[in-house]
This record gives sequence, C-alpha cells and structure tokens, in this order.
Amino acid sequence: MNLRNAVALITGGSSGIGRAIAQSLAASGARVAITGRDDRRLADTASSLGVHAIHADVTKEADVERTYREVLQKFGDLDILVNNAGFGVFKNLVDFDLASFEAVFATNVTGAMLMARGAARHFIARQRGNIVNISSTAGLTGAANGTAYYASKFALRGMTECWRAELRKHNVRVMLVNPSEVLTNFSVVAGFEQKENPTKLRAEDIAHMVKAILEMDDRGFTPELSIFATNPKN
Ligand SMILES: NC(=O)c1ccc[n+]([C@@H]2O[C@H](COP(=O)([O-])OP(=O)(O)OC[C@H]3O[C@@H](n4cnc5c(N)ncnc54)[C@H](OP(=O)(O)O)[C@@H]3O)[C@@H](O)[C@H]2O)c1
Repeated sequence: MNLRNAVALITGGSSGIGRAIAQSLAASGARVAITGRDDRRLADTASSLGVHAIHADVTKEADVERTYREVLQKFGDLDILVNNAGFGVFKNLVDFDLASFEAVFATNVTGAMLMARGAARHFIARQRGNIVNISSTAGLTGAANGTAYYASKFALRGMTECWRAELRKHNVRVMLVNPSEVLTNFSVVAGFEQKENPTKLRAEDIAHMVKAILEMDDRGFTPELSIFATNPKN
C-alpha cells in the first residue's frame, strides 16, 4: 500500500514501539492517530510527532467506540490499525494474583479484540484494510514467570489467525509482528531492570519492519514476522 495520506490508528502510541511506529508512518506521509491513558505523555508525543492524540484505554469498550468516532470524524477514513498497547506482569505461577492476571488479559487480549472489532467493521464496509498486531516472541514458546504475559501473546496470535480467516476475503491484511526484547519502557512497567546495550533491538527496528510489511503491494501480505537481535548482549 501507499502510506501517503493513509490513515493509521496506533494503540499505545505514546511510548516505545507504538511511538516509533507512529513516527515512521507519519514520516511516510500517513495521517496518524495514537491512543494512550497518560494524558501528559500522550500530548507530548502527539505534539512532537505532529500526530492526533486520543485519550483512550483499550480495555474500556466505550473508549474504543469513541476512538473510532474520533478517528472517522478527524480523518474521514481508516486504513491501518496497529494493535500495540500492551504490558506484562511476570511472576511464578504459585505467586500469581488474579487481579494481575486479569489486567494483562484485559489489555493484551480483550483490548486488542475490541480494537480489531471496530476496525474490522469499517474495513468490511469499505472492502480493504490492514490490522497489525504487535505480539512478541513470548507468543511462540512458554517460559518460567510467563503465565500471564506469554499466554496473552499466545492468545493474540490465535485471534490473529481467526481474524485473518474471516477478513481475508474482504481484502483485509491481518499481520502479526513478534519482536524479541526491545529497549523501551516495558521493563519499567513490568518492574524489572533492563540493561541497555547497543546490541539490543530498538523500537525503531520494529517500526522499520512494520512499515515494510505495510508498504508491500496490497496483492500480498506477511502473515507473521519475528524480529530478533542478531547477537544481543546483557
Ligand atoms: N519492549 C519489549 O521488549 C517488547 C517485546 C515484544 C513485544 N512487545 C510488545 O510491544 C508493545 C508495546 O510495548 P513497548 O515495549 O513499546 O512498551 P511501553 O514503552 O511501555 O509502551 C506501551 C504503550 O501502551 C500504552 N498502553 C498500555 N496499556 C494501555 C491501555 N490499556 N490502553 C491504551 N494504551 C495502553 C502505554 O501508554 P499508557 O500507559 O499511557 O496508556 C504506552 O504508550 C506491547 O504490546 C508489548 O507487549 C514489547
């Protein structure tokens, strides 16, 4: 697709990977809206990138519906949804509390579904569109402490396959992107220390690949893409 003047909606676009995708798509001439919950960070990012900010929580159905109303009011159309908002809580199974488990699923799974549902309704009506789900290599194989986060990304991967099966006949490209470890705020939110190292992936690397799979001609698409650092050092 040609990104010039395309309309892109990126959840969790105020930080990290979502922010880098917003920057990259806007630099390619797309008209971009980003969502997030922290007003200050959202406004700062939107003004520095020149994109439209929508204060919205993906776990709240009313916020999701308002997001689509705002996007269509502002831009009149939508071409791309990037389902990026997400976070992790990492604990042993025996220590896992129900509230943390449900919170991870509310954002990473239910939120992604609510957002995709709104986009799909629009895309079916216009018979074209793009959904990019930012999953993780955590969605490919399990690991200790991964009960909530890993399972949420497995679920996102599963939903991606279901949506693709439903939407492909409407010319909607449903794509899954699995980054490995990326230097962002993710670790701070998850409460662990991430060592900065020039060998580790940066948000810009993920944005580069998202832009590439979107820019491919609409006759084809990349169902799934995993991105690893070549030789990451801690
Ligand atoms: N960093 C990594 O190593 C890595 C690796 C693989 C995959 N990922 C995935 O990449 C995505 C982005 O993560 P990141 O690393 O860029 O983390 P980040 O820097 O913490 O960014 C997360 C973004 O999501 C937003 N967000 C969180 N919950 C939200 C909600 N309920 N509704 C709306 N926005 C919400 C945050 O803003 P507010 O808090 O203001 O809402 C923020 O803009 C996530 O899905 C994550 O699982 C990350």
